[in-house]
Amino acid sequence: MRIAVIPGDGIGVDTTAEAMKVVRAAAAAYGRRIELETLPWSADHYLKTGVAVPPNGYAMLREFDAIFIGALGDPRVADNRHARDILLGTRFELDLYVNYRPVKLLDARLCPLKDRSAADVNFVVFRENTEGLYVGVGGRFKAGTDDEVAIQEELNTYKGVHRIVKHAFEFAKANGRRRVCMADKSNAMTDGHALWLRVFKSLAAQYPTVEARHLYIDALALLMVQNPAQFDVIVTNNLFGDIITDLGAALQGGLGLAASGNLHPGRTSMFEPVHGSAPPLAGKNVANPVGAMLSAALMLDYLGWDAEAAAMETAVRDAVVSGSGTPDIGGSLGTRETGDYIAARVQKNLP
Ligand SMILES: NC(=O)c1ccc[n+]([C@@H]2O[C@H](COP(=O)([O-])OP(=O)(O)OC[C@H]3O[C@@H](n4cnc5c(N)ncnc54)[C@H](O)[C@@H]3O)[C@@H](O)[C@H]2O)c1
Repeated sequence: MRIAVIPGDGIGVDTTAEAMKVVRAAAAAYGRRIELETLPWSADHYLKTGVAVPPNGYAMLREFDAIFIGALGDPRVADNRHARDILLGTRFELDLYVNYRPVKLLDARLCPLKDRSAADVNFVVFRENTEGLYVGVGGRFKAGTDDEVAIQEELNTYKGVHRIVKHAFEFAKANGRRRVCMADKSNAMTDGHALWLRVFKSLAAQYPTVEARHLYIDALALLMVQNPAQFDVIVTNNLFGDIITDLGAALQGGLGLAASGNLHPGRTSMFEPVHGSAPPLAGKNVANPVGAMLSAALMLDYLGWDAEAAAMETAVRDAVVSGSGTPDIGGSLGTRETGDYIAARVQKNLP
């Protein structure tokens, strides 16, 4: 197995190192070979060379079995150009249309909602990852003046909507999830989101064993807080997905715990923690590496290493529940010590 590893910027470097430590431990424990090839794409590299992604970069990424990215973002690159090329570029160029974000509470103590158990927060969000408001269609006219006009278009295609909504239903069917909820704003965005509603209704009819529910995104945000237990699978567009998955991360206990995959099923896909580069925490051995580790576990699972992925998840849960983690989740360990602890537990959890 060959993995491209892009630690990126800030705490991305810190958390990626620990996630890869645990991946190596899982591979060794199960007698597997894994090659982790680190690529230097980052703000540092961009500032030194002027290159964010080399000319053949995306083609090179396709040659790997999977890609792991830490985080990107650096105050020295004011327009975040390098992050756009590396992160959004990889999503768009590799057509990674499924943004997969499990929202799973590992320890009830970490949930900001009162009286919730781990079983109450256990759902999956599928965010459309290649269209919507993030495609860069639009522009500014008379920028910087009082007459400025700023237009940013939301792109919704039948193909794009159909494939992500279908993925959500297929996931529910394959994983014993009973309910799929599609969230849009079709009451106000009567063209673009009417397409979402039409596609959702027609696909729902093809999955009679799955309960299909439509919600407006504002109502979904309210219900995610009031009673998250009612959700199994949520599917939504790029912008709404971006926002509600941060809400989901809060329900899990914070950004340091949240994992994600950017998938094109059957093809080289990319995995990354949800958190950003958190510049003030960078290099201080305080960032929580759990989100990065759980993202790496999603990667191994995607690659068919189910046992290794499960061993990683169990070891992470044991660490979180026993308080053996970083200060953001009430622990007293550093980033590296958390990595050492979880890597050692991966070995212990062996069948
Ligand atoms: N996918 C990505 O690479 C990604 C995602 C979000 C933000 N960013 C970039 O990261 C930079 C900083 O953005 P931000 O501050 O809005 O978001 P951030 O995720 O970096 O940090 C937000 C808050 O969460 C805390 N936090 C985040 N991850 C943590 C962890 N692993 N352990 C402990 N605490 C953690 C930070 O201390 C901070 O208070 C910006 O340049 C932004 O563009 C990148």
